[in-house]
Amino acid sequence: TALPRINHLLTSGKPGESVRIRGWVRTRRDSKQGFSFVEVNDGSCMGNIQVVVPGEVPGYAETIKSVTTGASIEVEGELKESPGKGQRVEVEASSLRVIGSADPEKYPLQKKRHSFEYLREIAHLRPRSNTFGAVARVRNRISYAVHEFFQSRGFLYINTPVITTSDCEGAGEMFQVTTLDLAKLAQLQTTLDFSQDFFGKPASLTVSGQLEAEIYATSLGDCYTFGPTFRAENSNTARHLAEFWMIEPEMPFYELPENMSLAEEFIKSVCRAVLDDCQEDMDFFNKRIDDTVLATLDNILAHEFIRLPYTEAIDILEKSGQEFEYPIEWGRDLQSEHERYLTEQHFKQPVILHDYPRTIKPFYMRCNEDGKTVRAMDVLVPRVGEIIGGSQREERLDVLTDRMQEQDLDPAEYWWYCELREYGTVPHSGFGLGLERLVQLVTGMQNIRDVIPFPRTPGHAEF
Ligand code: 4AD
Ligand code: MG
Repeated sequence: TALPRINHLLTSGKPGESVRIRGWVRTRRDSKQGFSFVEVNDGSCMGNIQVVVPGEVPGYAETIKSVTTGASIEVEGELKESPGKGQRVEVEASSLRVIGSADPEKYPLQKKRHSFEYLREIAHLRPRSNTFGAVARVRNRISYAVHEFFQSRGFLYINTPVITTSDCEGAGEMFQVTTLDLAKLAQLQTTLDFSQDFFGKPASLTVSGQLEAEIYATSLGDCYTFGPTFRAENSNTARHLAEFWMIEPEMPFYELPENMSLAEEFIKSVCRAVLDDCQEDMDFFNKRIDDTVLATLDNILAHEFIRLPYTEAIDILEKSGQEFEYPIEWGRDLQSEHERYLTEQHFKQPVILHDYPRTIKPFYMRCNEDGKTVRAMDVLVPRVGEIIGGSQREERLDVLTDRMQEQDLDPAEYWWYCELREYGTVPHSGFGLGLERLVQLVTGMQNIRDVIPFPRTPGHAEF
């Protein structure tokens, strides 16, 4: 028989119903009158269900001793109206079985609050904590909302390769892929060239599915990717991972303003889905993690995003009177402190910066008539900073090849990308959104390592 999950019992279980639950013990209290209260959680929601275990339950005296924090149990009984406050129903047990015990002396997740640093070391147990359970549920709702948003607009979901030879962002942050036995080669102390390793060809893990998405967009229409992406940047910050998930829509016939509108609608639609469907978890984040989270989301939904040319943003930053750690001037990329100043202090809402200097952006972005800027857009949000990077793409073959040469790229290596411009080229645009940064925005979690189940950062790939 299908077991009801605890979230279902708590919200719509009827007193008098016979129930059977399985889950993990959060706490146990024994009363002096010879019965016990057990709080059980099965991950379906933040809340635990309270189980009252009367002393008459068969084997009570022997079994109850092993009903300790972390143990897995099965309970059969009847749903009762709960006299306690804060819960509608509880279970009165008629039988109780310990499935797997957990030594209370050794169990790494104690009742007290643990630091996130400590929890990162026990990635195999941290999803049993309130915070990581909530993060996992919200992340799941966001992923679903991503598909809902694009599918309802007729976008095609496509899967782009993880192993590739093109460096989309041109930043040289690729992980090399090899079929060679490096350990053996090291033993032999060989001086072989390792740069052509994928069955004799160079290959790396993808930094973005954009170039391949452009192929599908210019054949089949609006499409999107949603998959893992890799950056070999050695940065230890609260918003960078070596492996993260990116959502990349790509649309033929879109110019930059339409691209910006889509990005704005997309972020708003995901925020709305989470607010509608994850109320319990969102209340938890607002109470225990960051008390500005709900207000930030309401504010995002209430206003149109500011659209601001890069050049004007530099002007605002230069006149701000702020002492920035990294001085800003036209031609430089914004640092996180500048992004936060614009979104948290100056505008107090999301900002879409556009038309960046061509020298700081990749080869594929469409050049403007001024010869100095490209049709780039970055969406910046409070607390997280850059959450989306995108652009209108260069659809003119001659301008594209000039730009490649300017950035020391060989057009011959991107021959297929150039052919998209040779045969039936069209204006098109797209963007990439980092899933983890969106989860950070929505939950208020400070560190990106705490919004992905198994964070990969320099030196951390164990499990
Ligand atoms: O700005 P990026 O590098 O843009 C691209 O890769 C484009 N090809 C996307 C496109 O137009 N289809 O990355 C896009 C987003 C960033 O705004 C950020 O949210 C996220 O990906 N991101 C990272 N997230 C976590 N860790 C990292 N190291 C990230 N690098 C980028
Ligand atoms: Mg970027």
